Amino acid sequence: MIDREQIGIRIAALRKKAGLSQQSLAEKLGVSAQAVSKWEGGRNLPDIDMFRELAWLFHMTIDSIVEGDLAFAQKSGQKALPANVEALFPDIERRKILRSLSTYCSDTELYNIARELSEGSLELSVQAGIVRMEGKVFQEGHPKEKREERKVSIPAALLGESTLRETAPYFAKALGEMTGAVEPGLRRIAELMCCPECGERLSLENKDESKISYICKNKHCYDVTDGVVYFGSHEIPGELWSLYMKNYQDYLREQRHSGNPRYQMGTVPCSEVRWQALNRLRPRVILDMACGTCNGLKYDLQRINWPCLVIMADLSHRILKYNKRYFSEEMVNPYVDIVCLACDCAHLPIQDGCIDMVVSNGGFESMQSKMMDGFREGYRVLKPGGHAVYNISIVGDHSSENTKKWEYLYGTLCDSDSLHDRIYDIQEWEEVCRDTGYASTETREIYGELPAPEGDVFPFENEVMQWMGAYLCVSGK
Ligand SMILES: C[S@@+](CC[C@H](N)C(=O)[O-])C[C@H]1O[C@@H](n2cnc3c(N)ncnc32)[C@H](O)[C@@H]1O
Ligand SMILES: [Zn+2]
Repeated sequence: MIDREQIGIRIAALRKKAGLSQQSLAEKLGVSAQAVSKWEGGRNLPDIDMFRELAWLFHMTIDSIVEGDLAFAQKSGQKALPANVEALFPDIERRKILRSLSTYCSDTELYNIARELSEGSLELSVQAGIVRMEGKVFQEGHPKEKREERKVSIPAALLGESTLRETAPYFAKALGEMTGAVEPGLRRIAELMCCPECGERLSLENKDESKISYICKNKHCYDVTDGVVYFGSHEIPGELWSLYMKNYQDYLREQRHSGNPRYQMGTVPCSEVRWQALNRLRPRVILDMACGTCNGLKYDLQRINWPCLVIMADLSHRILKYNKRYFSEEMVNPYVDIVCLACDCAHLPIQDGCIDMVVSNGGFESMQSKMMDGFREGYRVLKPGGHAVYNISIVGDHSSENTKKWEYLYGTLCDSDSLHDRIYDIQEWEEVCRDTGYASTETREIYGELPAPEGDVFPFENEVMQWMGAYLCVSGK
């Protein structure tokens, strides 16, 4: 439900913060002062175009005005330009371009861009295309179009504020790549990492173009290879996730088994619940623990429309190498910078309290005997106020016959030491979260329970995930 009154209060607060009277805000928006007064008093709502204008004016997103996420707004608001950048540009047009970029660039990046712009060695423009069809010509019965194509280039200085706002993340990404030798994600992660051997901070070293490394003051050095920061981890033998999925598909085919019908279409689709959490919290730095091929975040990554750094962490350099290429080349989202860390998630090379959101799509359990170490590491690296969003194998309660049967079968698997040896129910899991330090944990049922198999053999290991991976949890630090 939209709460007019709260929206009004937020508009008034933002107006005052910007030092505007109702009259002057009205003038900026081309509406009457009464209209503004009605919004603020909760008697009327701005129409959607006005929301866009307000969002732009106050450096907010529409969501944050409607839903009141002011904390995000402060973080995502455009910064005032640093004095050294202001000094380079007397003209408003180019300051406007730089201001639109400021949300997405660090001050140093912004200064480098500004310097090149002021020297005239860099120009920004937007390309548009015109295609004119000159009627259809028929050749051998097939229509053949005669086309005339023109490209038009519009200098960025001539663009209006809303176009600038929409093009800024694209400009920022490309400029980051053009003006810095190292891609933005690799630069940004440098501020968050620490040496897994001695705990000292890591800094980026980029002596020649082809070699990028992170090094601590004790000279422990970690190279970037195939775009992945490599901390010397190794895959668990036989744990290649793509192979695992293939085996599962073969199993379904061979056994003529249809799998858990609820896996794809649970009571709530898992991806939707995760997206709701992401979209509500709008984290700036996301860490996917034991990300594997990143099935969990894959689709969310396309929907993110706020600037953010996504860190994919997994033991497997091999998987990450392909993730890096796939997400940077095939599935490009200009808002998202992706960094891959090949490391042990039970001992993350990341400083305390610098991540906004930890996600794990069955990732903690994939860490097998290190599951709880991984869970605690996730907590350690979160900022106060940050959230962990993960799906995990817990049961509603231990008492149903069906659950008992599955737990018994599960026990027969655990001898192999391949899975953690305990199944929690919701209450027990909430207690684990509290003990870890989380202030709150919400659980949502995803798949629902599988019927117990008739035989006494565990049907397939992967069913564990589908049967029990029934909850998506959001734990707040
Ligand atoms: C089943 S996948 C996880 C699913 C994945 N999150 C997804 O959404 O596709 C298992 C992954 O966990 C990784 N893994 C296992 N133990 C790990 C550890 N200690 N640290 C980091 N990754 C680990 C494996 O390398 C493997 O890629
Ligand atoms: Zn070190």
